[in-house]
Amino acid sequence: MVNQKGVQVAPSLLAADFGNLAGCLRPVESASPAVADFWHLDVMDGHFVPNITMGPMMVAAVRRVSALPVEAHLMVWEPEKFLPAFAQAGVFRILVHAESTVHLYQLLQQVREHGCQAGVALNPGTPLAVLEEVWPLLDVLLIMTVEPGFGGQAFIPAMLDKIARARREIARRGLQTLIEVDGGIAPDTVGSATAAGARILVAGTAIFGQPQAAQAAAALRQAAERGMGMGRR
Ligand code: DX5
Ligand code: ZN
Repeated sequence: MVNQKGVQVAPSLLAADFGNLAGCLRPVESASPAVADFWHLDVMDGHFVPNITMGPMMVAAVRRVSALPVEAHLMVWEPEKFLPAFAQAGVFRILVHAESTVHLYQLLQQVREHGCQAGVALNPGTPLAVLEEVWPLLDVLLIMTVEPGFGGQAFIPAMLDKIARARREIARRGLQTLIEVDGGIAPDTVGSATAAGARILVAGTAIFGQPQAAQAAAALRQAAERGMGMGRR
């Protein structure tokens, strides 16, 4: 897996054509050099966020047509109810929202007990302070750079400072936690995110919303790496 010195690009399937999923994924997956590291699957329940998307059956469908790993971003209430089904469907990582549970520590332990990497996602208005007692359980911290619920929204620049503070906290604690960003990530925004410390980049519209998705993913990766070169370590 990636370390703090490299970037990973995770195309969000939310922006793919569900009627032609295999056809959408294939060019991105088979690009050489590689442009995508794994798929990001957005799970929305119509309650935690005002939209309904996909579930474990979609994970299984993606895994039938693609060899790339899949991570699940759970934007649902009662996420603990769905852990077994997503683990069974074959995701390698599960991201839960801190706002979706009052038992965050236990929930992260449960994700790990299911054999998956664990991550916490934070809405833009949720402070890093909620992580105080769970940092050691985090493989990944997902800093939402839009309000979750829909693709195609504008990146919130104020999140750059949150990313930078998270990076400092991870370094201070001597952890390997990777910072992921999700929402409005595109060639014109990704460089500032990687300069601030983001290492995993989720993008839907900027990849599947473009006429040539594989080339768009390559352009995003290049912009991300340029930003990383400008970041202070
Ligand atoms: C938003 C989702 C994102 C979404 C990003 O709630 O979590 O993963 O797909 O879409 P873009 O890249 O279009 O902002
Ligand atoms: Zn997402």
